[in-house]
Amino acid sequence: MAADKYETHEYDVVVIGAGGAGLRAAIEASAQGVKTALICKSLLGKAHTVMAEGGIAAALGNVYSEDNWQVHFRDTMRGGKMLNNWRMAQLHAQEAPDRVLELEEWGALFDRTPDGRILQRDFGGHRYARLAHVGDRTGLEMIRTLQQHAVHKGIDVYMECNIQRLLIDGGRICGAFGYWRESGRFVLFKTKAVVVATGGGGKAWKFTSNSWEYTGDGITLATDVGADLIDIEMVQFHPTGMVWPPSVRGILVTEGVRGDGGTLKNSEGKRFMFNYIPDFFKAETADSEKEADAWYEDKKNRRTPDLLPRDEVARAINSEVKAGRGSPHGGVLLDIASRRSPDYIKKRLPSMYHQFKELADVDITKEAMEVGPTCHYFMGGVRVNADTAASTVPGLFAAGEVAAGLHGANRLGGNSLSDLVVFGRRAGLSAAEYAKASAGKLTIDLGQVEEVANTLLAPFNNNGGENPYTIHANLQDCMQNLVGIIRTEKELRQALEEIEKLKQRLKRVSVEGHRQYNPGWHLALDLHSLLSVSEAVTLAAIERKESRGGHTREDYPDPDPKFGKVNIVIRKKNAEWSLAQEPLSEMPDDLKVLFEEKK
Ligand code: FUM
Repeated sequence: MAADKYETHEYDVVVIGAGGAGLRAAIEASAQGVKTALICKSLLGKAHTVMAEGGIAAALGNVYSEDNWQVHFRDTMRGGKMLNNWRMAQLHAQEAPDRVLELEEWGALFDRTPDGRILQRDFGGHRYARLAHVGDRTGLEMIRTLQQHAVHKGIDVYMECNIQRLLIDGGRICGAFGYWRESGRFVLFKTKAVVVATGGGGKAWKFTSNSWEYTGDGITLATDVGADLIDIEMVQFHPTGMVWPPSVRGILVTEGVRGDGGTLKNSEGKRFMFNYIPDFFKAETADSEKEADAWYEDKKNRRTPDLLPRDEVARAINSEVKAGRGSPHGGVLLDIASRRSPDYIKKRLPSMYHQFKELADVDITKEAMEVGPTCHYFMGGVRVNADTAASTVPGLFAAGEVAAGLHGANRLGGNSLSDLVVFGRRAGLSAAEYAKASAGKLTIDLGQVEEVANTLLAPFNNNGGENPYTIHANLQDCMQNLVGIIRTEKELRQALEEIEKLKQRLKRVSVEGHRQYNPGWHLALDLHSLLSVSEAVTLAAIERKESRGGHTREDYPDPDPKFGKVNIVIRKKNAEWSLAQEPLSEMPDDLKVLFEEKK
């Protein structure tokens, strides 16, 4: 009996991942009265959510009364190059204000307007100052608040527990199987429903804002049991990561720096973003320094091009560096010292001040920062129903970065935090309802469990001698160089060949020592997911023969209207991927009109 052999727990809903989406999902499921567990690979509170520093987007209208959900919806769709699931974008814009107020009710301490309302700051692609924030530590405050709330509600939390496979009975979810990082012992969860909320897979790239946990686990857990992915080729490179010193390359420099007055300059001291304003955004973007300066002063004019959506800014930086106008270490310069006082900078951007001072010995109140694009976020991921967050596998739900649709081809900054709480709540609610309605006994197939256990232990028995760290480093080089910001068919095909070789090497991976806290073994297991996700991204990137948002093809440099109407769907069956192009659902007329009015 698995129950005898392995530590076993039984729940109605198991939430995997304890960032903003997982916490919010667990809070909601538990509030519905079902037995809920929250599992995290790392320590509770250690989540990529904290890397959304600058704020949470919600049309509260506190700084601009003109703001409303319709404008937020339109900005999100335009930022996503209209590839978004319109229904998700609508729900997100409509529900984000309530979720922010709920966070405040639960104890989040947002910065304030002079008359005491929640203050909102400017961010890329948002028509109005819309990001509720706590200095440049908004994600951290959100995690603190949600974590405290979840713990007070008595939700069972399993920390440093790494789920490796979902279990299926008759086509529906019946459990999850993994191991404790500390002891290496296996653990089995019997459950009617699972919510995956594990974030993205940025650790497949060399320069990334993601930390070690982000190995695409939820995406792989879902595809391993047959779930569909959509638009997984859409990977966001945040324009501003640190580029120097090498040990900290990729660490995020919040967009809040530009929202609060920072400007991008090349090695000639020129504000180059004026040369990169796409037609789509010309009407509302300042095309001279004078006009942009006036915007910084009174915010009524056309917005500065430094705050164009992230895909535009990242590509512009890439072009400047390629043209030989980069900073000494291969980035560009981000200057806030010329425009804002030291007190202002330290008050508004305390983490950035300390980050540069301590890690790079740069005083950002006096000097410019060196910045460049860093792999930050997956727009693509598990295909979900917009209203329920249900995946295509019965009993499996997905929320947050692991789920796709809301952000289309490019996410606007600040929309991740609101995504987490809007769709985390929805996923928790739907999973609880599904669990309550589930009739019949679920049976764990012990053969399935044993097979997984043997696969997980294989690296201890292998004599192949392949080192997991070397395989990971080789994968990161491959994805960084061949599946980066600018892509070509030739390089993508080369990447596929590299990934295939790495998959073969993974079969020969060997680890030393025992199961007790063994990071080499943990990485060997994470490589299953890292390679699977990398292969899916690369295949989908080959299939989308156009440039749109986070996916730029040098060989197809323009958006193609045909591809603007389809999701690239990818699914795995018997370890083989299959690809399809499936039409987006049609936006209703009452929403379409919002784009016509703008014209
Ligand atoms: O730049 C930032 O603070 C990141 C925000 C986000 O990714 O939403």
